[in-house]
Amino acid sequence: MAIAHIVQKLSIMQSKILREKFIKFFQSKGHKLLPASSLIPTDPSVLLTTAGMQQFKDWFSGEVKPKYGKVVTVQPCFRTSDIEEVGDNSHLTFFEMMGNFSFGYAHLVPSLGARQDKSFGSYFKKEAIDLTYEFLTKDLKINAQRITVTIFPGDKNKNLPLDSESFTSARQIFDDKQILMGSSEDNFWGPTGDEGPCGPTLEIFVDGIEVWNLVFNQYYCDKNRRLKPLALKGVDTGMGLERLAAVMQGEKSVFQTDIYSPILAKIDNLLIESKNVDLPRSALILADHIRGITFLSAEGILPANKQQGYVLRRLIRRAILHGFLLKLKKDFLKELAQVVIAQLGEFYPNLVKNKEQIISVLAGEEDRFLKTLQRGLAEFEKIKNKSQKDKIISGAAAFKLADTFGFPIELTEELAQKDNFKVAREDFAKAMEMQREVARKSQKVSSGSANPKLHTACHLLHQALREVLGPHAKQAGQDVTGEVLRFDFTHPQELTDEQLRKIEQIVNQKIKDKLTVTSKLTTVSQAKKEGAIALFEQKYADKVTLYDIGGYSKELCAGPHVKNTGELGHFKILSEKSAASGVRRIKARLH
Ligand code: SER
Repeated sequence: MAIAHIVQKLSIMQSKILREKFIKFFQSKGHKLLPASSLIPTDPSVLLTTAGMQQFKDWFSGEVKPKYGKVVTVQPCFRTSDIEEVGDNSHLTFFEMMGNFSFGYAHLVPSLGARQDKSFGSYFKKEAIDLTYEFLTKDLKINAQRITVTIFPGDKNKNLPLDSESFTSARQIFDDKQILMGSSEDNFWGPTGDEGPCGPTLEIFVDGIEVWNLVFNQYYCDKNRRLKPLALKGVDTGMGLERLAAVMQGEKSVFQTDIYSPILAKIDNLLIESKNVDLPRSALILADHIRGITFLSAEGILPANKQQGYVLRRLIRRAILHGFLLKLKKDFLKELAQVVIAQLGEFYPNLVKNKEQIISVLAGEEDRFLKTLQRGLAEFEKIKNKSQKDKIISGAAAFKLADTFGFPIELTEELAQKDNFKVAREDFAKAMEMQREVARKSQKVSSGSANPKLHTACHLLHQALREVLGPHAKQAGQDVTGEVLRFDFTHPQELTDEQLRKIEQIVNQKIKDKLTVTSKLTTVSQAKKEGAIALFEQKYADKVTLYDIGGYSKELCAGPHVKNTGELGHFKILSEKSAASGVRRIKARLH
């Protein structure tokens, strides 16, 4: 794609306007605009927010009474499932999903509590389809003939019938040739995670590009994959802003819209060599990844070896690899993140609020990985040469690339695939597991004879750190077996004297307050609902112990602890330094 084309393109239907139009339209139809949820979902069975409906799962399932009947949101979403496809015309890892929702539709079953309150106004298939049509053809002025829809045809395996209600409603608007039978897989959505609401969908295509998905939540899928009809039904729709922008701006590729043009222009600007050339796929991958990276970092997620932190690290390192292949000037991640923040900061103020933190994390990770990347790539070539016969990268070799050179396994696989090599994933997993086992054993030894006073002090310190530094500061390790406590936590920079003083003060105040320490048995999801700190990195049993220090600190932990913080005496921080990349270490004592 030629850069000149991207930069010069001035479009009337800018993505910003499209976002506004969507919100305004549904507000004018009585929908309440609600903020997007965090990219870290409250639902512990999924790692990251992949759809707008996730924050409303409880409203759809009927577990919690919906606050509103009709809602509109714009939700940043992150999906790794399409990562290999990124760089084609339409696939992305990060995107903004615009959605309208309707909850608690019970008009057909008045005995189940049809709402008397008219303003609640929930709707189902016909109204949802009508609204969609009105928005696309009247507000956006898309010629109706460009639209086709697909209908859920039924599913013999699940014993579900054709979605005749959607079919009938669609026929009232569209010509027969515009209505197609979809497939039983593509036209059925959900649940996200282990269980949840789900149902048939009607998909909307403009010029053959799928832009909008209307999900009619009318079933609940339990953990055993059994479907039960929901008494109160709901509508969940999702339209990708990037694809809509492509349609409205007359482009085939999402990357040719105004959403990506400033990022691609910056990439062009950062090229050490040629100017005004066609940007290769690496540039598109980088343009996609930098948005996800920026948003994930803004949530306080730090690159790590597990869970959300791992997704971020994998994405960052893949972006760095492509930046390296493009031969971009140093600090390109930081520069590109700034473009994303400038572009979207107005609509997502947390990007601006956390700008410094984002930049420092990215600069640090780029610095570190670039140091080993070139040597890692050389090592990779050596490994390949040695494995020419069977074309298999052994588990041990993949482990070395991960352990010594910081190559996420997916990156090794991707590089291998390019040259038709395979990676022995199972052997790699075994090597990783062995390393973890060693780490676990050493941790066990150190927590065996814990000093309860220091242990309670750690919980207070943990909470104080989060209060002063932000929720990204999470425990990464601790030792409370000796006289001095050691507490490791995730944070990108050195702490200032001011911050250390403040943290010390808070802990000492909590000691002076003589807070009672209580514990109870509960479940992980209940504990999370109560706002307890649970370490993502850890696997918890069904029943866990929640330690509560006078309502100030709530943390899942096996103990032991003191009964009252008054027993701790005085808390003093002795030192603060780096423990590993992105991890700080505080040593402190009580006297
Ligand atoms: N949840 C549906 C989707 O992700 C519609 O919003 O496509």
